[in-house]
Amino acid sequence: MAIKKIGVLTSGGDGPGMNAAIRSVTRSALSSGLEVAGIIRGYQGLIDDNIISLEHRSVSNIINRGGTILKTARSEKFRSPQGKTIALETLQKHNIDALIVIGGDGTYQGAVDMMALNQFPIVGVPGSIDNDICGTDETIGCETAINTALESIDKIRDTAQSMERIFIIEVMGNKSGYIALRVAMAAGAETVIIPERKFDYKTLCSEIQDGNKRGKLNWMIVTAEGAAKAAEVAQTLTMMTGLETRYVVLGHVQRGGTPVSADRILATRLGAAAVDLVLKGQFGKALGVIHEEINIVDLCDAKTRPDTRTDEYLKLMKLLS
Ligand code: F6P
Repeated sequence: MAIKKIGVLTSGGDGPGMNAAIRSVTRSALSSGLEVAGIIRGYQGLIDDNIISLEHRSVSNIINRGGTILKTARSEKFRSPQGKTIALETLQKHNIDALIVIGGDGTYQGAVDMMALNQFPIVGVPGSIDNDICGTDETIGCETAINTALESIDKIRDTAQSMERIFIIEVMGNKSGYIALRVAMAAGAETVIIPERKFDYKTLCSEIQDGNKRGKLNWMIVTAEGAAKAAEVAQTLTMMTGLETRYVVLGHVQRGGTPVSADRILATRLGAAAVDLVLKGQFGKALGVIHEEINIVDLCDAKTRPDTRTDEYLKLMKLLS
């Protein structure tokens, strides 16, 4: 089937660099003679029939902007078989021949489920701060999120050192410790708590108490939201050591802001590569970059990312703290 018109959507949590991906998809497709439809609020936009036409100028001045101009959502309605049927009807109504979805694991699952219904042609682009899907070294947004968290932690260090306190900082990442581990390493944190490894309060408390005896009074502890909540860690440490602690939940600040160059470049490459796949008629695929090269995996296989370098990072952090 000759593809004349593609749809593009962003779904799930937004991430810095998604706009750069939308720009790249739109302009690559237009320059290949395709029409481009922008779907507003992800899969929910297919249920609500919320679709706009994207032209060259529609994506001007967005490469540097965080968030997503197409808006995003986690659509409950789309999860039901009835929701997916409505979504497919909307695509037909607008003569959309193929879809490029930009998002994380939930977005990919939605695409796989929709393809299972009637083989609708879909290509996935990894957009998420979590970096928790395989087939790519990094997802669009994770480098910016790491830098944003790091900037805040550097500021917290100033007060932790001045007031000689223990700080627990909670970062995002859903069930993955990718952001936490990178941020902890870059911030020179003493400890990181991640879902991928067991964590033991007793060992940490005795390390803190031993450090205290040597005159080390300030500690930076990074926790991944999927491993332990900062409030609980702070309360437990105070109870077990009798020492004063403070905690900070960095939260959604990590999802916003100007994308760093790595995210813009990744998004630009992957957006164009997604259009390439559409033109070649290769569907049911998810894109990524591995060791600088564009990588293609089956959408249904783009699941949990295996953790890499975790032991090396943890060992280094211990050695240097
Ligand atoms: O998947 C991106 C993410 O920011 C996760 O790190 C976090 O757990 C989640 O989204 C938060 O979702 P929401 O914005 O819906 O609260």
